[in-house]
Amino acid sequence: MKIEINQSKNKKQKPDWDECGFCKFYSDNMFVTEWDDKKGWYDARIEQYAPFLIDPAALVFHYGQEVFEGMKAFYGVDGKIRLFRPEKNLHRMDETMQRLAMTNIDTDFVLEAIKKLLVIEKDWIPPVDGMAIYIRPFCIATGTHLGVKRSDTYKYFVILSPVGSYYPEGMKPTKIYVEDNYIRSAEGGIGKYKAGANYAGTLLPGDEVMKKGYSQICWLDAKEKKYVEEVGTSNIAFVINGKLVTPSLDRGTILPGVTRDTVIKLAKEWNIPVEERDITVEEVFKAAEDGSLSEVFATGTAAVISPVGLMRWKDKEVIVNEQKIGPISQRLYDEVTDLQYGKKEDKRGWIQIVE
Ligand SMILES: Cc1ncc(COP(=O)(O)O)c(C=O)c1O
Repeated sequence: MKIEINQSKNKKQKPDWDECGFCKFYSDNMFVTEWDDKKGWYDARIEQYAPFLIDPAALVFHYGQEVFEGMKAFYGVDGKIRLFRPEKNLHRMDETMQRLAMTNIDTDFVLEAIKKLLVIEKDWIPPVDGMAIYIRPFCIATGTHLGVKRSDTYKYFVILSPVGSYYPEGMKPTKIYVEDNYIRSAEGGIGKYKAGANYAGTLLPGDEVMKKGYSQICWLDAKEKKYVEEVGTSNIAFVINGKLVTPSLDRGTILPGVTRDTVIKLAKEWNIPVEERDITVEEVFKAAEDGSLSEVFATGTAAVISPVGLMRWKDKEVIVNEQKIGPISQRLYDEVTDLQYGKKEDKRGWIQIVE
């Protein structure tokens, strides 16, 4: 399919890079393509970023048939634009679209569209160490019907937003609250997919936890409220007796994070033993008490590595590594960000140069 380029003639004023924060501003153009069950994908285009008309009876509003992704592009120290393992995000989105009974999409084609959009919008990528442009592909059901059914038409978008450094004041370990009332995801459900519907139900529990003074919520499994799943919008890993332990994907209830996969691959390469398995919150708290737990960190596109300094579960609270960043967390963070900013040679085929 050909991508029509119909760029916006009005260029918006760029923000001061140090005011970007997280997704406060959007670039001038976006990528759009549409699906109809009878026609397939059609009308791929790059056009002005702007509000659009949609029927109030569109299925996305009523039954939440929506999926999305989140990835970043970086200006390297050599002035080249880099993407980090983008094929994994696009593949995950395609799988999510299929689980939500939408349709599938050629991920190579979407990647080509994203690269074209990034080249057009390159002035929106902050040429600043630690900053990036956030890429948000998403797909919505546009068919109109008030009965519960899948839509027969969809719109697929990619929008861009410059984002600030996640750690402008340096990495600060977070306080996390182990949630033993609400759950995020259950076996057989859609927890392992990046569907908007997964996130709506986490907003209220997230707010309650913030009000209690914690920065993130740690989810347990739905059945027994015993096994650690993930934290906020990140995966979680523990260093216990020098081994990196992270919840396995087998239950199908946690998002298979790109950063999680990167961390596992790096740890194995560095001869750090890795265990992907069930881990009970009780084991974590025992390990914290007997001193065998040396690091806890969350992994995700936004922060790469986010160290955890304190965990609360029911009436127990434990401090991790004296609320300092551990050596494994720091090494992982440095390795990934050095690759993203072109400070280190990419020997693993994780980087795609856009231009
Ligand atoms: C629920 C959830 N878990 C984990 C992650 C981390 O995934 P990734 O490393 O692909 O960003 C995210 C963020 O995308 C998420 O939303």
